[in-house]
Amino acid sequence: MSVVVLCSAHGAPGVTTSALALAWVWPAARPGRRVLLVDGDPAGSGLLTGYLSGGVPRDAGVSILAAGRPPLSADQLVGCCVALDADATRMVLPGVLDPVQARPLAPMWGSLLSAARDLSDQGVDVLVDAGRVGHHHEPRVLVTEADLVAVVVRGDVSSVAPSAAAVRALMAERKGRHAPVALVVDASGYSSGQIRAALGVTEVLSLVRDDWTAHQFALGATSGWRFERSPLLRAAHATAARIADLVPERTAVTS
Ligand SMILES: Nc1ncnc2c1ncn2[C@@H]1O[C@H](COP(=O)(O)OP(=O)(O)O)[C@@H](O)[C@H]1O
Ligand SMILES: [Mg+2]
Repeated sequence: MSVVVLCSAHGAPGVTTSALALAWVWPAARPGRRVLLVDGDPAGSGLLTGYLSGGVPRDAGVSILAAGRPPLSADQLVGCCVALDADATRMVLPGVLDPVQARPLAPMWGSLLSAARDLSDQGVDVLVDAGRVGHHHEPRVLVTEADLVAVVVRGDVSSVAPSAAAVRALMAERKGRHAPVALVVDASGYSSGQIRAALGVTEVLSLVRDDWTAHQFALGATSGWRFERSPLLRAAHATAARIADLVPERTAVTS
């Protein structure tokens, strides 16, 4: 496992919340692995205005990373992250609040991808919240070259229908790599089979609609029995395990 990108093609289906939920359960779903969540939405971070709204250290974040000279090392990448727990089994690389700040990041994404692959060899998988595809300053190289891309949709016609073209474009762009998959946040409207057919994907991952837990994430109130046993985290656990099945462990290159 190495780099998994979550993105959307329409609306606000829940990319940030889904990425957080997956990151939250990752060390439990993938024993022995840690996780780094890259907050890469160029339209403005959903984490800094939600989960991380309590503030982040001044020396953390993508902009600090971009100010360094390439190539980036895995240590530099980790050095700009915020640990979410004492053992740093979950880390977040905070993004930008203002889309204007996304522009200078463009040259950095390629180096971040190489650093992420090195990090993966050290036992850290990397999830990316890439926001909505098509933004001028999006982390395109991550979307194109990630080991897996999941297009997040709500299971209703207004979310699924406009996402089909984006899936087709990703399919063409990622030729030779794993085909894009769908991640359905609330499949109450469509069956998996219908979503597969409507989007032209072969794999549909799913989470559940869980207003309370989504809200707790937005508040950064992520503790307690009710939270840990919530429907969203249980679904995320199963989906994290499925993602790991889809994307085999990378073999570290040794010289
Ligand atoms: N699984 C879910 N269950 C219920 N509400 C959700 C879920 N995922 C996201 N939401 C809610 O949907 C809204 C948009 O979510 P967000 O993750 O910010 O979307 P995006 O990153 O795609 O813009 C927020 O109010 C969030 O709380
Ligand atoms: Mg978001």
